[in-house]
Amino acid sequence: MATTKGGGKTWGGRFRQQTHALVDAYTLSLPVDRRMWREEIAASIAHARMLGRQRIIPRGEANALVRGLRAVGREIEQGKFPWRDDLEDIHTNIEARLSRKLGAVGGKLHTARSRNDQVATDLRLYAMAACDRAMAAATTLQRALLDLAEANRRVVMPGYTHLQRAQPVLLAHHLLAYVEMLDRDLQRFASAGDEADALPLGSGALAGVPYPIDRAGVARELGFSRLCENSLDAVSDRDFAVSFIAAASLCMTHISRLAEEIVLWSSAEFGFLKLPDAFSTGSSIMPQKRNPDVAELARGRTGQVYGSLQSLLTTLKGLPLAYNRDLQEDKRAFFATEDTLLETLTIFAAMVTELTFDEESGRAASTANYALATDYADLLVREGLPFRKAHEVVGKLVQYAEEQGKPFSELTVQEFRRFSKLFPDDAPGLNVDDALRARSAPGGTAPRRVAAQLRKWRRKLDA
Ligand code: ARG
Repeated sequence: MATTKGGGKTWGGRFRQQTHALVDAYTLSLPVDRRMWREEIAASIAHARMLGRQRIIPRGEANALVRGLRAVGREIEQGKFPWRDDLEDIHTNIEARLSRKLGAVGGKLHTARSRNDQVATDLRLYAMAACDRAMAAATTLQRALLDLAEANRRVVMPGYTHLQRAQPVLLAHHLLAYVEMLDRDLQRFASAGDEADALPLGSGALAGVPYPIDRAGVARELGFSRLCENSLDAVSDRDFAVSFIAAASLCMTHISRLAEEIVLWSSAEFGFLKLPDAFSTGSSIMPQKRNPDVAELARGRTGQVYGSLQSLLTTLKGLPLAYNRDLQEDKRAFFATEDTLLETLTIFAAMVTELTFDEESGRAASTANYALATDYADLLVREGLPFRKAHEVVGKLVQYAEEQGKPFSELTVQEFRRFSKLFPDDAPGLNVDDALRARSAPGGTAPRRVAAQLRKWRRKLDA
């Protein structure tokens, strides 16, 4: 008999020579897919039970497989599992260990399955749980933002367009904008989880399997609510992973925008907020520095998540059906994304509640640079002037005030009336609270609207 690949390779039968050491190293996925050991054990147990139930293997042997798999799981849990890089991946490692414990019976586990439907099953199980973890972490950040908004419900700040001071807004209104973004992220993670929620196992390598298997029973046991209906699609579909990474990308986009605002607002130029010591970093040369490194790193790592999305999409775009080894790289992209996302959501939730706002400087900045100009135009509109005309009048008024080097509040009524007779007696007295209160249409920054939104989110997030 010719020598075949020794050392326990599951596919060595048809080869005369050992694989090159470089090939073993290059194809190895164990360091990455080890993370799915719980899913691998659970799916294997469900498969073994089904084989016994369907009399594909004797019941007693199925029970032995289940007990053996549980024992292997305990070994991994306790850090006692003898991981073997020469066995490629998590699937082969667990199966080889099982056979070592049970002898020939271990070899029956792989009846009616392939690593192709196995790995797809493991990753889907993992992805469903990852979506739940992402949702929990995003909700925690929502709560932190809501706490911060509630604690600063009277703080006013300039709202910006083009990063130019535009109109005053409540800080709480601004923070709730991020709560809204995160809510859309939650929906996307939920939908990625739904996509993952279909069982590939039972599809075999690509064409289905010639045994009387019970896929529905396996699905039920593993918590899948439906089956993948086409075996070719089942082993080659990674859309759910793309959806997760896409949802994570958008979520990171939102965090990155918040990060950018934290960087800006904590600068001396803005001076709106102070980072807590515990979330600030210093400089090795400039003793006075207090740097927002956490926010900057979140902004920086967002690019890595986008990179994972690009990477997986590119992996998929050229693949003929069905399984191709390229698909092994899906996990690297998926896990790296999950790690960055969860770490970032978690540290932001911790940091955000510790931010302190400088109420004075926010209030002062909110009316500087003629930020109430639109309100003056609206005031003239209320007196019957068409908005376009009112805009022009106030434009001229701004020009005049700038030349005088005065804010609106230091102009006299007479000066106002040079531009329009319609300005009321108390025009110079218009203030930021009037401006906020006026924006009371749904969705606006009026304190009563914001208060209602705070109550709504509190109810929702406490539920
Ligand atoms: N480690 C492989 C992966 O992650 C498992 C499937 C291997 N299948 C195969 N036909 N080589 O994709």
